[in-house]
Amino acid sequence: MSCDSYSQSSYSCADGRALDLYQGLDPLRLSSVASHFSDQPGQTQAKMASNIRQHVFLFFCIIATSFGQKCGRVDDNHRFDCYPELGASQQKCEARGCCWAPGESWRNNAGVKLDVPYCYYPLDYPGYINGPQTQTNYGLTANLKRTTQSYYPNDIMNLKMDVYFETDTRLRVKIYDPNQSRYEVPIETPPFTFLPSNPMYKVQLSSGQTGFNVIRKANQEVIFNTTIGPGFIYCDQFIQISSSLSSSFVYGLGEHRSSLALPTDWQSFAFWARDQPPSPDVNLYGVHPFYINLESNGDAHGVFLLNSNAMDAILQPAPAITYRTIGGILDFYFFLGPDPIDVVRQYQEVIGMPFMPPMWALGFHLCRWGYGSANGTMAVVERMRQAKIPQDVQWNDIEYSVGRKDFTLNPDTFGNLPTLIADLHANGLHYMPIVDPAISSSQTPGSYPPYDAGVTDNIFTKADDGSIFIGKVWPGDTAFPDWFHPNVTRWWQSQAQTFHNDVSFDGMWLDMNEPSNFVDGRVTGGQPGCTGNNYDNPPFVPGVGGGTLYSKTLCPSAKQNGNIHYNVHSLYGLSEVKVSYTVLANIRKKRPFIISRSTFPSSGKYGGHWLGDNASQWPEMHSSITGILNFNMFGVPMVGADICGFNGDTNEELCTRWMQLGAFYPFSRNHNTLNAKDQDPAIFSKASQDSSRNALHMRYSLLPYLYTLFQRAHVNGSMVARPLFFNFPRDPSLYKVDTQFMLGGAVLVSPVLTQGATSVSATFPPGRWYSNSPEPPLTFNKSTSMSLDAPLGKINIHYRGGYIVPTMAPETTTNATAKNPVMLVVSLDESGNAKGHMYWDDGDEIGSYENGKYSSWSFRAKSNGQQNSVTSSVDYDGFAGSSKMMFKGGIIQGVTANPTTVTLNGQRCNNTYVEHAQLLDVECPPVPFNKPLTLQWD
Ligand code: GLC
Repeated sequence: MSCDSYSQSSYSCADGRALDLYQGLDPLRLSSVASHFSDQPGQTQAKMASNIRQHVFLFFCIIATSFGQKCGRVDDNHRFDCYPELGASQQKCEARGCCWAPGESWRNNAGVKLDVPYCYYPLDYPGYINGPQTQTNYGLTANLKRTTQSYYPNDIMNLKMDVYFETDTRLRVKIYDPNQSRYEVPIETPPFTFLPSNPMYKVQLSSGQTGFNVIRKANQEVIFNTTIGPGFIYCDQFIQISSSLSSSFVYGLGEHRSSLALPTDWQSFAFWARDQPPSPDVNLYGVHPFYINLESNGDAHGVFLLNSNAMDAILQPAPAITYRTIGGILDFYFFLGPDPIDVVRQYQEVIGMPFMPPMWALGFHLCRWGYGSANGTMAVVERMRQAKIPQDVQWNDIEYSVGRKDFTLNPDTFGNLPTLIADLHANGLHYMPIVDPAISSSQTPGSYPPYDAGVTDNIFTKADDGSIFIGKVWPGDTAFPDWFHPNVTRWWQSQAQTFHNDVSFDGMWLDMNEPSNFVDGRVTGGQPGCTGNNYDNPPFVPGVGGGTLYSKTLCPSAKQNGNIHYNVHSLYGLSEVKVSYTVLANIRKKRPFIISRSTFPSSGKYGGHWLGDNASQWPEMHSSITGILNFNMFGVPMVGADICGFNGDTNEELCTRWMQLGAFYPFSRNHNTLNAKDQDPAIFSKASQDSSRNALHMRYSLLPYLYTLFQRAHVNGSMVARPLFFNFPRDPSLYKVDTQFMLGGAVLVSPVLTQGATSVSATFPPGRWYSNSPEPPLTFNKSTSMSLDAPLGKINIHYRGGYIVPTMAPETTTNATAKNPVMLVVSLDESGNAKGHMYWDDGDEIGSYENGKYSSWSFRAKSNGQQNSVTSSVDYDGFAGSSKMMFKGGIIQGVTANPTTVTLNGQRCNNTYVEHAQLLDVECPPVPFNKPLTLQWD
């Protein structure tokens, strides 16, 4: 690095770049500077000036050359943004010690222009230097130290990094302030118990260097590498860290509306729970800072940053990720998979396994805002009955209440709601009301117990001055329960119980719990707003919708049981669903069923989720698939979107198609907004009703399969709905498929998602597939797309060869369906084999599995010419009702010749053979299902 030639007027460095540093300098000023240095007799001022020029030039040249190396060597994709705030300029950028160079333009999927950062970190941007690492009994530890301040206030100059080798597949890395404790997210995580014997990972950390690596030992693949991103900053209210990604196939990072495989073209995702109808590029109702990343050989790993502060995560084409959070600590979990489904299971081992839903929750749910009255609601239930369309649950929106106040019943319009509920219960249906968290605070004292008791129990969130924080939601001025308060369960229980005495609801629909507020902040003296303090207006605000942390919510300076809302805001929904789960279990003494709008990691332990206020439009139906798949990755398998769309009017074609798709959502609910046209499936033409009935019949016939999937999710964290590639992880052609999905390992759903279509292009992973309508089986040795017939009345469902799916003949409720005999759908693979299993219990008791009050079965099929049989064996028989369960045959697919006899345990069965579909339909005299069974055909 030397400057080898210069002259009075022009200078150039060794690399040939010309520097004209002096052009703006006044020669007289230079001479006068020179005069101060003119300590050598005989040296003229002019000569001195020339010497200074040379030295100053050399100095700038060195700086500029090193700028060239540290800045110029950074290619566009590896620029880590040093000025994410609005209003960057060269001057402001360089004041941060960063490089300024306008870059190229990019567009994200939604067409929004995103720029390569103009202002980015030089490669040698000063960060934290690792001290020597020491072994501990849990892994290793090291001190990290920075010597220069960053450009944000309150750097924490000394950090500690603790690395926990938690299991063979799970690693935890905590980077925190060893001298002062900081907020950590209060969710339960597994305690550290032992050092794993054979971890799949190693962690590299070099003393004297910055950053660390996580490496998959088997093939040395680097799965996380923070050494690539300069700009590791750890201030009180600004923590930033970057890492490489293994590939640009990244999934998760919720809750956002985006493509299944996330864009890595400088896409920024903000995390901060917000009442925001789903749209691209904004933070939505929940927060899930978890991603899955595919590696070069198709292995997958997951990364969970356990942090609940407002945050941005940026994906850039390097590929790399940058996190910017404004509080808490860095608490990373790494999951080594190696298959995506393993990653999701390992993730749920940390955040908790999903709740086991009651069986009725798997039925079809009907809801709208705008029935007008209990009679209006009942009329629709009647319409459904007339049309014989399955329905398990009727819901009501805020209109049942007086002035939209929780736990009140409007005597004029909903006075006879108890009668309606009694009717539902008598017919085996269930009832779900909406419950908003915000409690009206402006009623005459003594007239509204939920508020008065809340004041007495001191459970409301406080403003920074200690008074009850008042915002505005549906009922007007409202207070917000603090779900962390020790008295809150008692209070909520008492309010819910009193209401339940009249209105015997079966579950709870928790809406508006981001928490939503119709004003920005607190209403004081009639004016909304927040303080000017560092919580309400922190030095850095992530790219949240509305631009401030208090937009449409509480002030971050509000106080919740010793926490500032700033830290726990995004936990509001989680903390509410957790308390509600306990309360509902206490009240009903049955399995709670709760659907919550806002979620955070662990929410799935207590409830499900719907994707919020979508619109009645075709593209929204399409994006619901990704939303549902994401929540299955987030440990919330009970998830659905408002079928037929919420905002705006639907139309018959859209709604018919959406009912077909929604019949296969894990949580299947049709919901509609106030004043929009009716969209319950019974309102449409006979053809549309037939289609919805058929689709729901398919859902109801899959009840034992779906219930088993939910039980497996509850116990193993396997997902109910899965992207295709989760079942075929080594097949890159499936990595972006978001127009189809699978239920478990066996059922492929290929809906029509566009207006006017009568066919659908579907991708089939390799193997054998059988249509749900008798058609020749499809066999592929690699993933293949093909067009399938899809007239308006039809949804394409395929069974995967090699799987046995337990079914029951569908009725109009799950309750009635569950009384029917079990029938197996056996789909033989190319070698004539198939297997499956089933879980069953009473469907409503709490802890059936945990208390051993369940039964489970394994099924095996073998067809090789000599032996053609399906066997069922009882693995465990603890469900008292299993002795009443019967079995009576089913469908065997992949049978190549019409058999002469079919027997079940030696008794002859009736059978029909459909040659072109290789389908054998078997109906046997029913036999007890809780005994070993053999079905044979010859
Ligand atoms: C919110 C909910 C929506 C509900 C409405 C009225 O917008 O997301 O589902 O119908 O409030 O309660």
